[in-house]
Amino acid sequence: MLTLCVFVSGRGSNLAALIEAIRLGRLDARIALVISNKAEAGALALARANAITALHLSPAQFTSEEAYSSSLLGMLEEHGVGLIVLAGYLKKIPAAVIQHYRHRILNIHPALLPAFGGKGMYGHHVHEAVLDYGCKVSGATVHIVDSDYDTGAPVLQQCVPVLEDDTPERLAARVLETEHEILPRAVQLFAEGRIRIEGRRVTILAKGGRE
Ligand code: GAR
Repeated sequence: MLTLCVFVSGRGSNLAALIEAIRLGRLDARIALVISNKAEAGALALARANAITALHLSPAQFTSEEAYSSSLLGMLEEHGVGLIVLAGYLKKIPAAVIQHYRHRILNIHPALLPAFGGKGMYGHHVHEAVLDYGCKVSGATVHIVDSDYDTGAPVLQQCVPVLEDDTPERLAARVLETEHEILPRAVQLFAEGRIRIEGRRVTILAKGGRE
C-alpha cells in the first residue's frame, strides 16, 4: 500500500479530506507522517487526533539546509514514504528532497496554474488577485512539485465559476470544496500507478495501465 507523508502549514482541511477518503475506501493509501513548519498548525492536532505521527519541523531548527534535508530524508525513509503530499504547505521543500522524490511530490494550489501561482501566491492572496483581475473562472490544480513555486506539471485541474458578488472568502470556500475532491483523486491515481510523466506532459492512464 502507498505510504504518504503530508506537509502542512495551516488548518489542514485538505489533510482531513485525505483522511476521510482513506476512511471511505476511496483512497488506497496510509498516512505515516504529517510534518508542519508551524508548531501551532491545526493540521498537526488533526493528525494526532487521528493517531498519525505529527512533527513540527522547520528549517530554522537546523544549522544548514543540508542538515535539514538529511534529517527529512532520514525520516521519510524510516517511515517508508512513497509519495509526499503538500497540503497547504507554505515553505519550499529542500532541493535534495525534491531530487530524491522526483515525480513523487504533489502540491495542491487554489487556482488554475500557471495563473495566480508563484512565491507569495497562497491562501487569500490568490483569491484576491483572481477577483482583482476580474476573472470569470478560477479553480484548483494538483501538480507535480519541481524546484520552484507552483511551476511543476499539472496532474488534475478543475474549474470553479467566479460569481458576480464573490468575496475572496466566498470564492476560497468554493475552490476549497474542489481541492478536497481533486487532491484525494490525484493521490489515488498515483497509488494506482496511473500517472505517466513525460517532460511537462502528464497522462492519466486508464485503469489497468492503458492510455
Ligand atoms: C489551501 O487552499 C491550499 O490550496 C492552499 O492553502 C490552503 C490550505 O488549506 N495552498 C496554497 O496556497 C499553496 N500555494 P488547508 O490547511 O485547510 O488544507
